[in-house]
Amino acid sequence: MPALINPSILSADFANLERDLGRIANADYAHVDVMDNHFVPNLTLGVPVVTRLAEVSPVPLDLHLMIEDADRWAPAYAEAGAASVTFHLEAAQAPVRLARELRAGGARVGVALRPATPVEPLLDLLDEIDMILVMTVEPGFGGQSFIEGTLPKIRRARAAIDETGAATWIQVDGGVARGTIARIAAAGANVFVAGSAVYGADDPAAEIDALRALATS
Ligand code: DX5
Ligand code: ZN
Repeated sequence: MPALINPSILSADFANLERDLGRIANADYAHVDVMDNHFVPNLTLGVPVVTRLAEVSPVPLDLHLMIEDADRWAPAYAEAGAASVTFHLEAAQAPVRLARELRAGGARVGVALRPATPVEPLLDLLDEIDMILVMTVEPGFGGQSFIEGTLPKIRRARAAIDETGAATWIQVDGGVARGTIARIAAAGANVFVAGSAVYGADDPAAEIDALRALATS
């Protein structure tokens, strides 16, 4: 499975998002972190901004919704033009119903897990989702250090997916950088979100290439 690199624009310049999306045109997706100040103690952007980002981005948008009441609010992000919409399992009342609604809206569906949330409840539902997002930091902020204790969860998810023959992607978000990406890939992840590593680099596009190479070597 090829490694996908999705830079997080949380570490971009919020006054120059179109310019900074142009700097990651060799990425697979642009990762957009939507935070509501309730599910996480931070606030970013919402549907009107996502709508414009989808119009100007050179790559498809991978949305990560860190919001309460995902059942109510997530479908609008599929309608806004996001290629992929990920909601948190902890924030959804009826995750299967919501996943079906998002797919009907034309988006790939991801389900995210905070570091302390087990993956096992998702493993019987692989047909309903396109991606599991294993958070490898507590969600809310960029620039935190990778939580090593999340690696066994990635391994368990990969083993279960391979056993069923499902095509579910495993995305990892938080602390992904040159020093961590190879062992995250070895654990079985195939989609890598990197915010500070990409946008903190002098040349974000070159950093994407370097991370991709490390994840596939
Ligand atoms: C954190 C966000 C991440 C964040 C990752 O809650 O979900 O996408 O941008 O930042 P880094 O890559 O700096 O850990
Ligand atoms: Zn994220």
